Amino acid sequence: MSFFKSQKLTSSFSIEIDSIASDKSISHRCAMFSMLSDGQNIVRNFLRAEDTMNSLKIIQDLGAVVEDDGDIIKITSSGIKESFDILDCGNSGTGIRLFCGLLASANGHFILSGDEYLKRRPMNRVTKHLRAIGAKIDGRDDGNLAPLSIRGSSLKAFDYVSPIASAQVKSAMILAALRSEADCIYTEPELTRDHTERMLRGMGASLVTNGLTTTISPLKKLLKPLDITVPSDPSSAFFFAVACAITPNSKVTLKNITLNPTRIEAFKILEKMGAIIKYDLKEDVYEPIGNIVVEYAPLKAVEVSENISWLIDELPALSIAMSCADGVSVVKNAHELRVKESDRIRTVVDNLKLCNIEVEEFDDGYSVKGGELKSAKVKSFGDHRIAMSFIIAGLKCDIEVEDIDCINTSFPNFFELLESLK
Ligand code: S3P
Repeated sequence: MSFFKSQKLTSSFSIEIDSIASDKSISHRCAMFSMLSDGQNIVRNFLRAEDTMNSLKIIQDLGAVVEDDGDIIKITSSGIKESFDILDCGNSGTGIRLFCGLLASANGHFILSGDEYLKRRPMNRVTKHLRAIGAKIDGRDDGNLAPLSIRGSSLKAFDYVSPIASAQVKSAMILAALRSEADCIYTEPELTRDHTERMLRGMGASLVTNGLTTTISPLKKLLKPLDITVPSDPSSAFFFAVACAITPNSKVTLKNITLNPTRIEAFKILEKMGAIIKYDLKEDVYEPIGNIVVEYAPLKAVEVSENISWLIDELPALSIAMSCADGVSVVKNAHELRVKESDRIRTVVDNLKLCNIEVEEFDDGYSVKGGELKSAKVKSFGDHRIAMSFIIAGLKCDIEVEDIDCINTSFPNFFELLESLK
């Protein structure tokens, strides 16, 4: 088990970063949606991290031809074929849940599984509703836990009002709808990240969104192939935004980030806390893309209880900014944090306590009293975002983070960029 001892940063920094890891959500979707297209899909800047490389491997197991020259990835599919092997999603909840939607109506039998952490995460949120429209999916705990077995079957149309604000659930249902017998309607309780809708529309699918409701028509023919440059991931960029926001006199320019409003809410919260943040839109292909400039200013406490699904991946890093802010910050309505790569309410609270920060745990969040982070030894709990958040906290004092291999699931060049702050 590997560990990292971060060292207190003794000077300020002013840097530009143009190699933040590519967006994980969009990369997964590039691999999966290529299976619905005819012709060759061209994907530049695909995220070469464990989670998304697992998705790429899975589509190859399902019959796609992938040509990779180390720069551009070209994907050609001739329909979904039954795989000989177990489809291993590794640590990725997005991977396994979206593949459930894609494979529910495919011809054949498929087994989806993953690592020890993924096998403990709830799959009912997709399997239950897919089963209700005719999917044949089973697994441990009555279909709630991986490994999941799927026997593709024909799917009925649905009009489903989801109680969970989850882009994974929405995307799984949209993928199922594309191959169901008639128009389907999906309503979410609040708007979640909409990469699936944007990308599928760009490929020619008929998805009509009105407020929180999307009507999806089944595909009459295969979709146009993708020709896409994946932007950098705002959730990964956010670690360096926090690094800047807690280091006096610092400035960082984060380049070519998706500025999709459902993805940059954490930057807006950091701005509310006092950091100076500018957004510079450069282009709009599938997604708005541009630079985010962050400048240090003293931070004050904030209360976060809305748009939680827009913040869900960044709350651990935000908790580090909260621990350096003046006053007591509060996070509420964030139950979903409990079913991420770790129970992020518990793991944030336990680790901040070890760093001598006053924290209170609630069922649906926590409060953090700004103070002085103290040296400590903390665990990642196998969760990449917990590992990176506490390594960033280590810029204020020396912190040792155990079990950091998980960082490779989303951000393999994290340490290289961390070095550049010195
Ligand atoms: C994702 C959706 C979110 C997010 C995850 C990626 C996606 O999960 O936390 O990292 O790509 O659809 P939920 O759908 O569970 O909110």
